[in-house]
Formats: sequence, structure tokens, C-alpha cells
Amino acid sequence: MKVNVDRVTKQFKNKIAVDRLSFELSEGVTGLLGANGAGKTTLMRIMSGILDATSGTVDADGIAVTSEEYRALLGYLPQDFGYYPEFTARDFVMYIAALKGLNKKHAKARTDELLELVGLSDVANKKIKTFSGGMKQRVGIAQALINEPKILILDEPTAGLDPKERVRFRDLIAELGKDTIVLFSTHIVSDIEHIAKRVLMMKGGLLIYDGEWNEDMGDLEEFYMKEFE
Ligand SMILES: Nc1ncnc2c1ncn2[C@@H]1O[C@H](COP(=O)(O)OP(=O)(O)O)[C@@H](O)[C@H]1O
Ligand SMILES: [Mg+2]
Repeated sequence: MKVNVDRVTKQFKNKIAVDRLSFELSEGVTGLLGANGAGKTTLMRIMSGILDATSGTVDADGIAVTSEEYRALLGYLPQDFGYYPEFTARDFVMYIAALKGLNKKHAKARTDELLELVGLSDVANKKIKTFSGGMKQRVGIAQALINEPKILILDEPTAGLDPKERVRFRDLIAELGKDTIVLFSTHIVSDIEHIAKRVLMMKGGLLIYDGEWNEDMGDLEEFYMKEFE
């Protein structure tokens, strides 16, 4: 499967947040790198069908981003994800499953499987408000995977994680990337270096780089500093 982003622009009043972006994604992990305000979240919201582009199109093998069919292919972890602190991890994932229309029996089995996958089985019945940042993000990943998505969009999933959680999280994303189209935004270079085969870089709404960083770019850290600092 391929996700096609074709000349996508988003204008908010007089601010162009995403400026004529075109690229194609296939299976594997692609990192979306850019400083705060670069346009990453706006792009991801458009690619998740929750924000309309001003112009341009997004589709997956011809299935439009606005369609029900696309939604069924998609898993999305928003940057400003709300976790319902009083819910337990299991209840929260079950709740999302219900919202997505899974039947109860399937939802229960899938929830257990996902909590296992993200390493939260033993705290499944604990309230989310007792969780660390990394544990919350893993709940976020679990809910994004509930419908076995072919396209997974993760907006700054490593924000607020400690170094140990970060490594664990990377391993999980890398595993998912084997058979899923994963787009992963971050402003932390080391997140990308370890798992992304490909990197897209945004600056001021523009796509300023699209390639395999280790071959085309040499030292990403240095390149990134030059671009952003
Ligand atoms: N709903 C909105 N209304 C007006 N401006 C917005 C809105 N959302 C984002 N922007 C602006 O668009 C630009 C890109 O923001 P964003 O996509 O959040 O970037 P990033 O995720 O890379 O930090 C910023 O200048 C931001 O202020
Ligand atoms: Mg953002």
C-alpha cells in the first residue's frame, strides 16, 4: 500500500502552516522531523482526515482520506491526546474499541493482546492517572492499534519519555514498522536515527528534506543543527 500526499497546503487566515507538500509513504517507519511550529501536527491531522487541507489531496492506493474506508485503515496518536485519568488502561482501550465499532468479544481479546504488546498487561487494571509518561504513551499506542491499522500516524509519541522508555518505545515502533506504514513526528534527532529508514524534514510549512538520512545526509545531527538553530 502507498499513502500519497499530493500538493497539500493548509492556510490558517494569513498563516501557511503546510506549504505544497508532496510525498509518498510505503511500509516502514518514516520520521517527520522539524522544530516547533514547522507544520508537523497540521500535516498529520490532514493525513488523519480530521482537518481539511486548503488544497491538495491525500489518499491510500486511491482511497481518499475523507472516506470511511481510509478511516478503517488508520491508527492515529494525536499530540494532545487526552487519557481519561480515572479510567484503567483496559477500560480506556475498550472504550476506544467501542467508539470504533468493534464488537465486545473481539474488543476484549484485542485489548488484552495490545496491552500485552505494549507491556502493560500487569497494570491493565490500574488507573491511568497513576502511570508514568511512557506508560501513558503506550496506552496511546495501544488505542491507535485497536483496528489493526495499515497506516499509523504518531504525533510526537516520545514526548515526555525518559531515556529508558524512549528505547523501549523505539523498539515497539520498529517492530510495528515491519508491516505497517508508520509516520512518526519528533523534534528529537536520536528518535529518528535509530528506527526511521527515511526522514522527512519540515521547516516553515515546507518539506526541506526527503531521503534516507544515513546515506544522503551524512551526520543528521549536524545537518539538523544547521537547518534549525
Ligand atoms: N488551528 C490553527 N489556527 C491557526 N494557526 C494554527 C493552527 N494550528 C496550527 N497553526 C499554526 O501553524 C503552524 C504550524 O503548527 P503545527 O502544525 O502545530 O507545527 P508543529 O507540530 O511542527 O509544531 C504554527 O505557526 C501554528 O501556530
Ligand atoms: Mg506538533
